[in-house]
Amino acid sequence: MGKRLSPRTISILLVLFALPIVFNSAGTSNVVGNDLNNPEAVYENCDDPQAEEIEETEGNEGCLDRLHRTEHAFNGGWTLLGHMVGGSLLMFSAPITFNSNILKQRKGLHRKAGYAFILGGVITGISALSMTIIFPDRFSGFNVFTNLLWGTLLLGSPLMALRAILAGRVKSHRAWMIRCYAVAAGPSGHRWLGFLVGIIGDFGVSLLIFLIGEMIIRKVGLKTLKTMMSIDKGVSRHILDNPSTK
Ligand code: HEM
Repeated sequence: MGKRLSPRTISILLVLFALPIVFNSAGTSNVVGNDLNNPEAVYENCDDPQAEEIEETEGNEGCLDRLHRTEHAFNGGWTLLGHMVGGSLLMFSAPITFNSNILKQRKGLHRKAGYAFILGGVITGISALSMTIIFPDRFSGFNVFTNLLWGTLLLGSPLMALRAILAGRVKSHRAWMIRCYAVAAGPSGHRWLGFLVGIIGDFGVSLLIFLIGEMIIRKVGLKTLKTMMSIDKGVSRHILDNPSTK
């Protein structure tokens, strides 16, 4: 059996892992915030029939996206801002939430970080889903599918974690918190593992991180999604075999 990482090492690794996506959020929030404050400037710089072609040229970076966010300030600009703030809240509360020393010695801090993590997950998940459902044509068919898949998991897993802890099911709570992080870690993973993205794509990297999360859940003795599904199947078979238990 390998040596376990210390709680402090885990926290440091989680802070480092969050950095690329949090920096990306800070940079993009700055652009989105300025555009929302000063939409006229976006129209001046970008409202050009050739914006699509000149999109990548200096001074016109991301014109299509910027025009979209300005024209749809609520569902484009503010939703994306909320998404990035929620995602950063989740990524930066994780090093406290997953530190077992803090859990043992400072329960209040663990609880606050846990609520921040759950809130961050819910905000990021809802915004990812709404950005995709309201404007699906901005994404390829496959991206619509992956956004809906990861967005639903990002919204559902913190809610399951909250439900479990409120019902006193600590093991299930821990499993759903780890699962939520494994879903949220995808976008940062794309930036850290750029070489792998070239081989298995964004979706492959997200799936890999999700499966690593399931392995960690299994290693610490919690129920993986696979076990839960086979238990569910067993229960329904039992109910079908014994209609009296319905
Ligand atoms: C795992 C589930 C997630 C899904 C399905 C998702 C989906 C999306 C979508 C649909 C967009 C809008 C893209 C556009 O308008 O062109 C977006 C942008 C963004 N998301 Fe997420 N997201 C997820 C998690 C996260 C997390 C945890 C963070 C952490 C902070 C994050 C940070 C960002 C940033 C920074 C952008 C703006 C990218 C840019 O244009 O520079 N996302 N995401």
